Amino acid sequence: MNPNTMIICFSEGETPARAIAESLSIDYATIATKKFPDGESLVRLPLPLKKNLIIYRSLDRPNDKIIELIMACDAARAKGVEHICLVTPYLAYMRQDIENQPGEAISQTIIGKLLSNYIDEIITVDPHLHRVTSLNQNYHLHTAIALSATQQIGEYIAEHYKGAIILGPDAESEQWVSAAAEIAETDFVVANKVRHGDREVHITLPQRDYKGKDIVLVDDIISTGGTFISIAKLLKQQGAEIKACIVTHCLCSELDEQKVLEAGIPSIISTDSVPHHSNRIALTELLADSIRQIH
Ligand code: R5P
Repeated sequence: MNPNTMIICFSEGETPARAIAESLSIDYATIATKKFPDGESLVRLPLPLKKNLIIYRSLDRPNDKIIELIMACDAARAKGVEHICLVTPYLAYMRQDIENQPGEAISQTIIGKLLSNYIDEIITVDPHLHRVTSLNQNYHLHTAIALSATQQIGEYIAEHYKGAIILGPDAESEQWVSAAAEIAETDFVVANKVRHGDREVHITLPQRDYKGKDIVLVDDIISTGGTFISIAKLLKQQGAEIKACIVTHCLCSELDEQKVLEAGIPSIISTDSVPHHSNRIALTELLADSIRQIH
């Protein structure tokens, strides 16, 4: 590791960022923030900073977080920082990669362009890449790394749900379910999903005998839970036994989580990319190894 490197994070990321710092044996500090009564943010960096700075921040609930992040990056440059690596386990605004309705902003491109102005490198995990297949298409940086948590998810399935079939909700999920199934040495199926609204999806299951079969649902993101709830209804009708749903990024509210449980999915399991009580799979070593390789 470059000895002139340190990692800083915002308060919500203290636990995972500190674990990465310990793994890399580098200094760690927290960025202070304050919200003004009108909703504006104040950002104060922990000084002094090292020249090679890693900033850790996941971008769930992204609007305020992105503003604070770019303020932190700009202020760091003003204090002599020469190199900024953004470690953002959950990278927001990746799902809109086309203009679905005329006039819609393509947020993936816009946020990519914005953040690229402030950072030199980005490391993220399971970004929602579908029609756009590479992070570099929107993040114009020398180094833009998209890691995957499928190894960790596959190992978790092998340990806790051995032999269960892994089911992904749509074509985009095939990249994650096929990789996790290979690690867990099990079978996988991919359903078909048509989205009609934020909470309305129509799912078609591929034909096979689901009766009495253990199923683990896997996807990159759970948000409202609507996708998994629709799948659960169909699987229950066919006599399958759903063991859990496992995601890289859990963005689910308490209310939506309750609906997922009521739909017959006994538990939500997630990586620690976004702080949530469903976090069971740490990404510390995945992220630390990636940082080690480039610094
Ligand atoms: C989008 O295509 C993602 O891969 C997820 O399937 C989606 O974000 C899940 O959303 P929800 O939980 O709201 O159905």
